[in-house]
Amino acid sequence: MTRVRGVERILSAYATVEGAGVRLHRAFGYYEVPQFDPFLMLDDFRSPRNEDYLAGFPSHPHRGIETVTYMLKGCIEHADSMGKSGIINAGDVQWMTAGSGIIHSEMPKAVDGRMGGFQLWVNLPRANKMMKPRYQEIRSKAIPTVSPRKDVSIKVICGEVNGVKGPVKDIVADPQYLDITLEPDTTFSLPVKEGYTAFAYVISGEGSFDGKEEYRISNRDLILFSDGSSIWVQSFGKGFRFLFIAGKPLREPVSWRGPIVMNSSEEIQKAFAEYEAGTFIKKNA
Ligand code: FE2
Repeated sequence: MTRVRGVERILSAYATVEGAGVRLHRAFGYYEVPQFDPFLMLDDFRSPRNEDYLAGFPSHPHRGIETVTYMLKGCIEHADSMGKSGIINAGDVQWMTAGSGIIHSEMPKAVDGRMGGFQLWVNLPRANKMMKPRYQEIRSKAIPTVSPRKDVSIKVICGEVNGVKGPVKDIVADPQYLDITLEPDTTFSLPVKEGYTAFAYVISGEGSFDGKEEYRISNRDLILFSDGSSIWVQSFGKGFRFLFIAGKPLREPVSWRGPIVMNSSEEIQKAFAEYEAGTFIKKNA
């Protein structure tokens, strides 16, 4: 029997500063642990102003997590300790598993005067925190679009919709990462695995996830869903576009300092000591 998920919490992304002075909006993060388990943070760096983001994110380490960058406009130039570098362009996704450790830089650039995208942090379970680092770099043309009905279109980045699988594979948290657009005045139901943490983050337009006009939500609002086997969504007159993200909770202790997330404070201290000593990057990396 279908059990429609309710709205457990509504958050609005707040302005904050990260990296070398990038002004961005954070939908959730450190203070929300463990409500979004296995997800740790969602940053929204859409901005019309060069000066908000040009300082970028110079060389910094990650360990114990995955970072998922999804660009809507502009690009990010990245380079890392494995000697790898590249550009994440509009519509592309980079799913980076930091595992035992990566040191990298991420520098946003405008294209035609525009830049914007999102970075999600996904936690790794104890058994995978020190795994070999890896990337899944997905170009926009490799991301399938599914239209379960003519007024709904879904880009499937990770997970499955109507039998169509997204190109990102073998992620421990078994996540679903979708970019969903509804035409104006449409309703739609999407099946979601029971017991998985699920949330929606609004990109544009207006909509509701419980049919109540007083909960009409819009750009930069986030809905955390209660448990159930589906979500129900309604768009209003401007249409509605949102990220839908779900994943299996890890239910492990979280010890988090800056860009490194482990299970204990001893592991955090060890990671920072290794970073200072120049032994952070492991031979298998
Ligand atoms: Fe990073």
